[in-house]
Amino acid sequence: MSSLGVEIKESPVSDEEFAAMKEFVGDYLAASVSNEEDGGRMRWYPWHSAEYRYNHILNVVALATKIARREGADVDVTRVAALFHDVAKLSAEQDAHAAVGADIARQFLTSRAGYPASFVEAVCGAIEDHSYGGDLNGLPLEARCLVEADLLDKIGAHGTVLLFLRMGYESRSHMDSGEVAERVLERGTDVKARVASDTANGIAHQRLERVQWFREWLGAEIAGLDDPRDAGNADSSDDTDAAGGRATGTR
Ligand SMILES: [Fe+2]
Ligand SMILES: [Fe+2]
Repeated sequence: MSSLGVEIKESPVSDEEFAAMKEFVGDYLAASVSNEEDGGRMRWYPWHSAEYRYNHILNVVALATKIARREGADVDVTRVAALFHDVAKLSAEQDAHAAVGADIARQFLTSRAGYPASFVEAVCGAIEDHSYGGDLNGLPLEARCLVEADLLDKIGAHGTVLLFLRMGYESRSHMDSGEVAERVLERGTDVKARVASDTANGIAHQRLERVQWFREWLGAEIAGLDDPRDAGNADSSDDTDAAGGRATGTR
């Protein structure tokens, strides 16, 4: 192809460079909260800490990379955008964090040698688009992969753990776990309806099933979880209706 003068689309991001980006993003998040006193902006909630945000970012990188590969998107644009997408989440207001994050990424990428302007703009465009609330089919493919990955990280087993953790912070008892699992199921159902690609749809389906099963197991093991008057029936059957009609309908 090069002999014909056509630009070869090679991966511009080496493993070393990606590792340097990861370090930059991790440091940026840690610095964003280092001057805050305990409880500033509810840091005690798991998803407001630098640790959580960095882990969320790594999850989104893995999901977005998988979706991009299968959907034929530019993998490097997608994974670099995923890595920077929430870099400003702890320093900027929610409404501005996508645009501020794109600026931070642009500064980083233009300070390094060798990235084509088209690559930098595609990455920053996807970061800016990641808060988009409309029809995902209207987005460039790489931005769509990122938004889908971002949505998927909030559901499934991981989404369930986060909401259970929050129950603890709110001093709620395990008897509320069925209701909380229902909320994860609702969220998963919404995400499955919103994602556009077959790959993201398949992941959403799998994650919904996991929560569905967990919800059913909770109902079978905890006396009175579904009906306080029905405490004697716990573990008495494997009737999947224990999870309730709404949950069953999410399959
Ligand atoms: Fe975000
Ligand atoms: Fe995110």
